[in-house]
Amino acid sequence: AGRTPLIAGNWKMNLDHLQAVAFVQKLHWTLKDAKHEDGSVEVAVFPPFTDLRTVQTLLDADKIPFALGAQDLSAHDSGAYTGEISGAFLAKLDAKYVIIGHSERRQYHEETDEIVGSKVKAALKHGLVPVICVGETSEDLEKFGASAVPVSQLSVALEGLKADADIVVAYEPVWAIGSGQAATPEQAQDVCAKLREVIGEKLGADAAARTRVLYGGSVKSANIASFMREPDVDGALVGGASLVVDEFAAIIRYQK
Ligand code: G3H
Repeated sequence: AGRTPLIAGNWKMNLDHLQAVAFVQKLHWTLKDAKHEDGSVEVAVFPPFTDLRTVQTLLDADKIPFALGAQDLSAHDSGAYTGEISGAFLAKLDAKYVIIGHSERRQYHEETDEIVGSKVKAALKHGLVPVICVGETSEDLEKFGASAVPVSQLSVALEGLKADADIVVAYEPVWAIGSGQAATPEQAQDVCAKLREVIGEKLGADAAARTRVLYGGSVKSANIASFMREPDVDGALVGGASLVVDEFAAIIRYQK
């Protein structure tokens, strides 16, 4: 539907700034002439904060066409918030994206839907594209089915946004993350379509048609194509497999 697919690698807390240089260079060489070069698929990497400056310099110096993203940001602009990182700082490092509300942040850092909502607003204020993560746990799945929790998480996250807000949504069932047990393409399609409806309700039909909705959770080269064949899945948020050069390159080179 005219949406450029996005293959996003969330490194989580892996690869220090020196390892990041070797990794990004190797990935770039491996991908020579791949379709991301002509813009038909967008590739983004999400390193730890401490790597961002180094990776930015490398992407810039070697004209490597990967977008850069951070894994979180502060809801505040600046001030007495020890240990926090402002969206303004990320924007200065040419970060295009920032992951918000990843289930690991919701789980281990008590991020509520309201906090996620305020971080989404902070990202947009600083010109960053928030990659808003939603997804149900296995308990949620048993109790409410697959879509109820992600739909309600996204509704709160989109509260008060303007119709032209530039956002990405990632559906990541918590039970599929790092488990080797991905959702089926049909399950992913079903929830991604419902999330697109939420975007339509909150931000209007144009936003629903334009916004990319990703699937994440045990994506690998062997299953990426099956997800990409689904009409409402516009890419993938990849964790573990994004840390293995050949595997991540094969995901980027998927053929439908
Ligand atoms: O942000 C990425 C997701 O948490 C997926 O992780 O590909 O290792 O399952 P995974």
